[in-house]
Amino acid sequence: MGQGMTGGGWTDAEIEALLPELREIRHDLHQHPELGFEEHRTQARVRGWLETHGYAPRDCAGTGLVAELHPEGPGHDAGRCIALRADLDCLPIHESTPLPYRSVHEGRAHKCGHDGHTTILMGVAALLARHRDRVPGRVRLLFQPAEEGVDGGGAKVMVAEGALDGVDEVYGLHNWPPFPHGELRVTAGATMAQTRELAITVTGKGGHGSQPQACRDPIVAAAHLVTALQTVVSRGLGSDGGAVVSVCRFAAGHANNVIPDRAELAGTVRSFDPAVDQRVVERIEEIVRGIAATFGVELELSLGQGYPVLMNHEHCASAVQRVGERVVGPSRVSATGLPIAGGEDFAYFTQAVPGAYFFLGAGRAGEDTPGCHHPDFDFDDALIPIGIRMFLGLVEDRLGAAR
Ligand code: NI
Repeated sequence: MGQGMTGGGWTDAEIEALLPELREIRHDLHQHPELGFEEHRTQARVRGWLETHGYAPRDCAGTGLVAELHPEGPGHDAGRCIALRADLDCLPIHESTPLPYRSVHEGRAHKCGHDGHTTILMGVAALLARHRDRVPGRVRLLFQPAEEGVDGGGAKVMVAEGALDGVDEVYGLHNWPPFPHGELRVTAGATMAQTRELAITVTGKGGHGSQPQACRDPIVAAAHLVTALQTVVSRGLGSDGGAVVSVCRFAAGHANNVIPDRAELAGTVRSFDPAVDQRVVERIEEIVRGIAATFGVELELSLGQGYPVLMNHEHCASAVQRVGERVVGPSRVSATGLPIAGGEDFAYFTQAVPGAYFFLGAGRAGEDTPGCHHPDFDFDDALIPIGIRMFLGLVEDRLGAAR
């Protein structure tokens, strides 16, 4: 492997040369953000790029795309296949940044950096196509809609539509501002949390604020419930912990002298292990029954199932680590800060085939870089070449690109 030349034939200079065009694409995607399963313009933009570079992409999960690199030459059809994934959707957040390419859509913005992830995979597509004769296997590019929790996530739909049929391994990445810029984080096993939506309706009996003895006050019952739920993790799981229970919404009442009939609580439950999840669910159910009996109110509990735990397969996480040590340097690769209690529907991909999901640090030195989902967040374009090198490096590592 020569200086600046990787085994797959692509050079650092080639990646650099592509960057101005990729930055333009990233800013265009940022300016025209689309919510989950509505990514029509984004899909058209990616499709056009893929077709220009010789791919024959097919629609998947409505607004997603699947494209495959079929290398030329004898024996290549029988080669292994690795899949690389990018997410396409934006968030229902108002863009507050003064960027020249800020969102033109009120209440919609790329505040998780999926515009950057998509751009990275478009760059990878271009370079793979240029060097297809050096890639001894197949690479499938997955442009996935609806990562942000819409109707169970686009990944699940893509798997159901066969996007991973014939795939040996799958890889995905996410920018992550809490980790320092230029660092790569990956771990084997649990990487992101299983999620559940918690919703509890407390129904009592309302009345005059001066006559509590004639009422069944749902606010007092709900307040005790919030406090009791704090013990699910602290008293229910012991020193191992491994879960988060957060009540994030408490709504009740409309006047200062009226005890209302109802109170509503909503929140989120996160864990990294099915057994822990089961224990958390049991404790929440017990507490709900107990509070109902204690305060003479009716409690309706819903614990909707969100994304499953994202599990990285060991040999795939090792591959990411190996490639990361080459791309960013051995001292900048670690598992520090993992797993993350966020949810991610890439979990459905690694349930279907072996794979790994990893993080590119995006926190700039000397500043409090806004995190994903913050209104001031913007994807850092300096991560585009790092992401491209990681994905191309994984193609080399897993398919053994010609040297
Ligand atoms: Ni995201």
